[in-house]
Amino acid sequence: MHPETRLAHMARDARRFDGAVNLPVMRASTVLFEDTQHLKTTEKTWWEKPYYGRHGLTPTFAFEEAIAQLEGGYKAIAVESGLAALTCALSAFLKSGDHVLIHDAAYGPVRHYCDDVLRRFGVEVTYYHPNQDIAALIRPHTRVLHLEAPGSITFDMQDIPALCALAQSRGIITVLDNTWATPLYFQGCVVGVDVVTHAATKYLVGHSDALLGVMVARNEAVYHTLKTNAARHGHHAAPDDLYLALRGMRTLAVRLARHQDTAGRLMTWLADHPLVARILSPAYPEHEGHALWKRDFSGASGLFSCVMNMDYPALCQVVDRLTLFGLGYSWGGFESLAVPFDMRRARTAQPWTEGPVLRLHAGLEHPDDLIGDLANALG
Ligand SMILES: Cc1ncc(COP(=O)(O)O)c(C=O)c1O
Repeated sequence: MHPETRLAHMARDARRFDGAVNLPVMRASTVLFEDTQHLKTTEKTWWEKPYYGRHGLTPTFAFEEAIAQLEGGYKAIAVESGLAALTCALSAFLKSGDHVLIHDAAYGPVRHYCDDVLRRFGVEVTYYHPNQDIAALIRPHTRVLHLEAPGSITFDMQDIPALCALAQSRGIITVLDNTWATPLYFQGCVVGVDVVTHAATKYLVGHSDALLGVMVARNEAVYHTLKTNAARHGHHAAPDDLYLALRGMRTLAVRLARHQDTAGRLMTWLADHPLVARILSPAYPEHEGHALWKRDFSGASGLFSCVMNMDYPALCQVVDRLTLFGLGYSWGGFESLAVPFDMRRARTAQPWTEGPVLRLHAGLEHPDDLIGDLANALG
């Protein structure tokens, strides 16, 4: 079945819910049992049947099943945010004395988690640049390899299938943040990633009004470890946010196609501008990761960056002149966004030596209006 068809038909049970096309919002902490026997039997299936509100109800399981199928994984686990999915995935496989390899372009708060929490619990953390020889960085106690393709803000690409093969040969668990591509444009589990995470907050919800995360496990053993860790930490996906995600996903394919087209038009226009040094997106033909992206991904979303020919204060002035692009972080919604970054403090494995970076999210506005806004601000 094509993903578009799956998105239209997933998470529906009209016969059970008065003929309603979509599942209802189900709010519950308490789940009642018919008798003690029912309680005891349900206890044995708490991870897949309603047992306690925190572990999920019908919409939770429907969302998890839909994402697992789209991603080509075994099963998924919904949690309260994309960051929670990442920290839960990392902590599930790490203990004191272990070593973890983290992408230098990891989503920023992942770095904070590694520096402030994992290190405090005795985990050794190494940040790597994707151009480095990863095999040479693996130590006997390396347990987890964190991947993000393309990486946050600078959009560095990685050879995910090759890195998964390497990790598997050394008994290392791979954790991929696949938020940028969504499961529509890249299926991590299919190429061997053990845990794929998504900030459903972004394109899956798609309307900038909910926070939600999800982890997809490649196989049963990985799922069991993740699910146990999520339960021990009390992770939970909120009913209203699940509803908004399931609703947003119905239109994911059409929205993504539009985000991709508009981003392509913006990149082409920006690449010719004298104040733009280079475009950072694997979907841009001159990007060094373009060949890998073309080989492994079936599309690009609307998020990309430009290295600018100006200093950081000047870039801030440009951003302040934009009127259609909002200044804000959480991308993937219908609206265009712009954020200036001074990358010199953001990377440690390979120092950033170029100019400041302007990250743009191409929303669903008309591309001509967005280009007009950029032209005016850069002028
Ligand atoms: C690549 C990436 N992963 C994860 C997250 C975290 O998502 P959430 O805001 O749902 O915690 C973000 C948020 O910006 C992100 O950009």
